[in-house]
Amino acid sequence: MTGQMSTKSIESIANPFDLTVGAIEAKTKKVLPKLDWLSRKEAAKEFMRIFKARAPNGKLTEETKEITKNLVLYFLNDEASKYDLNRGIYLYGPTGTGKTTLMQCFADFTHTTRLKYFRMRSSKQIVSEVLSKGDSIELLKYSDSKTIHDLAFDDLGHETECKIYGTTINCLEDILVARYEKKLLTHCTSNLTMDFVKKRYGQRLESRMYEMFNIILINGEDKRKQKD
Ligand SMILES: Nc1ncnc2c1ncn2[C@@H]1O[C@H](COP(=O)(O)OP(=O)(O)OP(=O)(O)O)[C@@H](O)[C@H]1O
Ligand SMILES: [Mg+2]
Repeated sequence: MTGQMSTKSIESIANPFDLTVGAIEAKTKKVLPKLDWLSRKEAAKEFMRIFKARAPNGKLTEETKEITKNLVLYFLNDEASKYDLNRGIYLYGPTGTGKTTLMQCFADFTHTTRLKYFRMRSSKQIVSEVLSKGDSIELLKYSDSKTIHDLAFDDLGHETECKIYGTTINCLEDILVARYEKKLLTHCTSNLTMDFVKKRYGQRLESRMYEMFNIILINGEDKRKQKD
């Protein structure tokens, strides 16, 4: 991140979820040369609209709200975000905390803004595809630098073992290492902490992932259990 960044603390910037008239204008007009207060306000509204459509009874905890606020800024390519704009987003945490939903919402959001546009792919489905075609060449399309959109891999670590003619193929590991080498922006959701990434995929990938991602814990209760 640039040196300029350090002078802009997120606290000095208006909370994009604080939509009271005048609040954003007053706090942000001076500090944001790239995006005016209106576009940030509209972006926050748009994100909440998408979130309500994806999770109609959904609520964001204070912690998740803070993360989401910074992710909205990140996906707007706004340097006020506390996340590194040049790295992808790795959302990890216990099951049912809303990681996939959040990532889907941001996929929709980037579809609207056309900034940092990405698509989501299920890790499980990628392995199923390779198994059904019986050829690991299928994996190449996930690290093709000519593809115009970025990619998010959902539920990293939940894919089954992939064996073709007796040879084990580490599909997601191969994709992530290839994307690292080509410097392609990548996002993930997972239940795996970095320690478990190391156990599951080895140190080579774990090491690269620290460089590839903003590693963000989404904690909380299992929202599936809270449903009536
Ligand atoms: N903020 C929220 N408030 C209430 N319900 C939510 C929220 N976010 C997601 N949900 C709902 O909770 C359920 C689980 O969400 P989701 O699949 O996103 O969790 P996850 O963290 O990806 O789980 P896993 O780790 O098992 O993959 C879904 O039915 C989703 O609609
Ligand atoms: Mg999930």
